[in-house]
Amino acid sequence: MTENATIKIGDKTYKYPILEGTRGPKVLDIRTFYKDTGMFTYDPGFTSTASCSSAITFINGEKGELRYRGYPIEELATKYKYLEVCYLLINDNLPSKEEFLEFDNELRHRAFVDEGLRKLFDSFPRNAHPMAMLSSAVSALSTFYFDHLNTTNEKSLREMAARIIAKIPTLSSFAYRRGLGIPIIYPDIDRYFTENFLYMMRAYPGGKMHKQPGIRASKDISDIEIKALDTIFTLHADHEQNASTTTVRTVASTGAHPYAAISAGIDALWGRAHGGANESVVAQLELINDIKNVDKYIKKAKDPDDPFRLMGFGHRVYKNFDPRARILKNLQDQLKNELGLDSKLLEIAHKIEEIALNDEYFKKRKLYPNIDFYSGVILTALGIPKNMFTAIFVIGRTVGWISQWMEFKKDKKAKIARPRQLYIGP
Ligand code: ACO
Repeated sequence: MTENATIKIGDKTYKYPILEGTRGPKVLDIRTFYKDTGMFTYDPGFTSTASCSSAITFINGEKGELRYRGYPIEELATKYKYLEVCYLLINDNLPSKEEFLEFDNELRHRAFVDEGLRKLFDSFPRNAHPMAMLSSAVSALSTFYFDHLNTTNEKSLREMAARIIAKIPTLSSFAYRRGLGIPIIYPDIDRYFTENFLYMMRAYPGGKMHKQPGIRASKDISDIEIKALDTIFTLHADHEQNASTTTVRTVASTGAHPYAAISAGIDALWGRAHGGANESVVAQLELINDIKNVDKYIKKAKDPDDPFRLMGFGHRVYKNFDPRARILKNLQDQLKNELGLDSKLLEIAHKIEEIALNDEYFKKRKLYPNIDFYSGVILTALGIPKNMFTAIFVIGRTVGWISQWMEFKKDKKAKIARPRQLYIGP
């Protein structure tokens, strides 16, 4: 039997059904609230509002739990490759060996982009931010695959998804190389997704490679580097109805092209309060520069009159710990020597963590290190510059965005996103 909530306004009472999902808090169904009462509900930033139903990702922020399609993130990040996780998010099941080989092969072949799109990068100024180039290039990708606007059957939906997942690393490497003013490197179909991205970032024209300085390995791209970046991609693959995913769903709700929705998601992710935080974390560690300055910056972060925030701390949903951060911290500890992590940055990061976790200000507000606090030091060791960190997030998250886009399109209850307002103007 459905449980109901009763709301009393003046002398009238209204009943609203309480919906129960498979996990997580119950949800009050207020869809008819305005029609019934003539009132709106007020919830800036959607702190208490479920904007959709979804079967993709589940987070329990109090327990620090994250699952994709029911699987705990700890299991996916340690036992599976990123592309297996992609397959899971799109298809709702992990691939068999044969399915994985086919998917991997398909993505290798779809990694190439039209030469016209490659030329687009020549028109950007060299100092353009990679996120701006990436968002523009993904929007431009819709001109090459306009048919996907009306994609409805399962086969073409999957083709549309595989295309964007496969091409994002290529476009990201083009953006990076445009910034350096060096020729792009075409994808190498003999390399796995993550290795191929590192190859397109690092190779000299003609394909020759040098090992990353500081990394102990005999191959041009070591298995440790591939594993580290693959794990980072997995940890970023989806995160329920965050700001960029909500943006993707909002654009989807208007019937726009799927790649236009992904382009908008990239723009939403770019901000410092969201994916842009990873770039800011390392910039902040460099600014602090020495462990003897840590106290001064902690004090600034606590000062209500100072806009300074400790980047990589706090999360809208996680109020205990961010499970992704825990996995990355372990990875950081394991790979410290093999990846030659920057010991000075690590020392400052550890000091901040130690002080903040024991400080009343941070404890009271439940502010813990988030994923971005740990990813930057690992990415730096992989030779990825700060201004590319958020593009790395994009590479990992594209599968989440496109899975959520597909789910939205199949949702019979989906409507155009059109919130109301509390008008306070003249
Ligand atoms: N440093 C210092 N104080 C902080 C921080 C921080 N990083 N984060 C929150 N606070 C304080 C706020 O000043 C506020 O204090 P008050 O109650 O005295 O006013 C309180 O904690 C609550 O903060 P809100 O901004 O209301 O929390 P919200 O849930 O809206 O924001 C957010 C979450 C945006 C992540 C915030 O914690 C923040 O700005 N963190 C730094 C940026 C960051 O690391 N972003 C990455 C998020 S993870 C991701 O997108 C992958």
